Amino acid sequence: VTTRARIEHDLRTSIRAGALAPGTPLPSTRALAADLGVSRGVVVEAYAQLAAEGWLVTRRGAPTRVGSDLSFAHPTTGRTDARSRPPRTVRYDLRTGRPDLAAFPRAAWARAVAAVVRAAPDAALDYGDPRGAPALREALVAHLGRVRGAVATPQRVVVCAGTAAGLPLVLRALRARGARRVGVEDPGWREQARAVRLAGLEPVPVRVDARGLVVDRLEERALDAVMVTPAHQFPTGVVLAPERRAALVAWARAAPGRLVVEDDYDAEYRYDREPIGALQGLAPDVVAYAGSASKTLAPALRLGWLVLPPDLAAAVAEDNARGVPALDQLALAALVERGELTRHLRRTRRTYRARRDALVAALAAHLPAAEVTGVAAGLHVVARVPDAHALADAARSHGVAVQTLHRHCTASPQHPPALLLGYGALPEPALERAVALLAGV
Ligand SMILES: Cc1ncc(COP(=O)(O)O)c(C=O)c1O
Repeated sequence: VTTRARIEHDLRTSIRAGALAPGTPLPSTRALAADLGVSRGVVVEAYAQLAAEGWLVTRRGAPTRVGSDLSFAHPTTGRTDARSRPPRTVRYDLRTGRPDLAAFPRAAWARAVAAVVRAAPDAALDYGDPRGAPALREALVAHLGRVRGAVATPQRVVVCAGTAAGLPLVLRALRARGARRVGVEDPGWREQARAVRLAGLEPVPVRVDARGLVVDRLEERALDAVMVTPAHQFPTGVVLAPERRAALVAWARAAPGRLVVEDDYDAEYRYDREPIGALQGLAPDVVAYAGSASKTLAPALRLGWLVLPPDLAAAVAEDNARGVPALDQLALAALVERGELTRHLRRTRRTYRARRDALVAALAAHLPAAEVTGVAAGLHVVARVPDAHALADAARSHGVAVQTLHRHCTASPQHPPALLLGYGALPEPALERAVALLAGV
């Protein structure tokens, strides 16, 4: 066992046993290295690994602490993260990832469900293909080809219960074929690293800068796969630069079995520029694509889809035996076939653009010192402010729920302090009031 592995093991054990409580500050890497008589780099690496796994939280200019969400270490305690829980009286919920639930096309969905229940053949009610209902897979192939430039056949599509259920399917198939180390974006969606860890693989944080995932050192990090949000990086909102897209594909093709996992979670919402096509369209042989209805329709539907290279599709389908309820799949297929989804996207894109504009204008008026980025797409912006953590905490006590960028950082706290401001769920006047309140704080 290496020294680094022993340090990691000891810390995990102490945290699991409760000897190190959530929020406890750890000694500096320099102090611990001196205590243990090891080089500081070993401790830095151990902390980074534990941060990537969620055991520790690192923050620039502050001590590394034991994480606040350790539910994965104590499975019976549930998964509520104090920081993602809204305060008791939330007047303005600016947390990321919330689409406008009031915009859900209830009438169209109700029509689609009614039509499906009336007209679906009896055979559609049987145990079906583990890939999902053929009608939905066909509809998705056409829709994704048109809207995202994805290259697919129904055989290579697997319907799953959202991205959160789809990623583990891909990761388990990777593990079964011998993969060990998976690159995850830093900062990035915590669920990525969690899924990697739960699949028995090692999440390896890979830095994100203004041009997206930093791809130039992938080779030396001995990765088997890389998970990435190329069209609209979560949470920074940057787009993966064209030369990096090409480099990522070249990395994947340079050795057999390598895979890029593309999380295309909110790419339908892009306001000022041409849509960025899916990376999968460039390299369907080495990219596994994951899409979801969570932002475009509603998270509660739990409907998502994978488009996989042929060799992975069969393995993933076999693992997906429980799948997704068939009537929901058929209703979504009907929505897509009738063009209702496209119309809904057109409508909501207008709504979200107006909200984005209102939020950016309110920030310029009330918080002119905040540098706002990541505005071109998605459902949130990034606002650089000094002391984002203190501001987020104070805002919560005034009924404004916001997240910080650092909440999504693991090993690379090089990003300047910033707030993430989600605007999907709030109409313009509410956004204006929320920003005025923030400014007051
Ligand atoms: C990066 C990222 N991917 C995917 C999703 C959607 O996950 P799901 O499809 O499981 O709802 C989210 C939701 O917040 C996200 O932030």
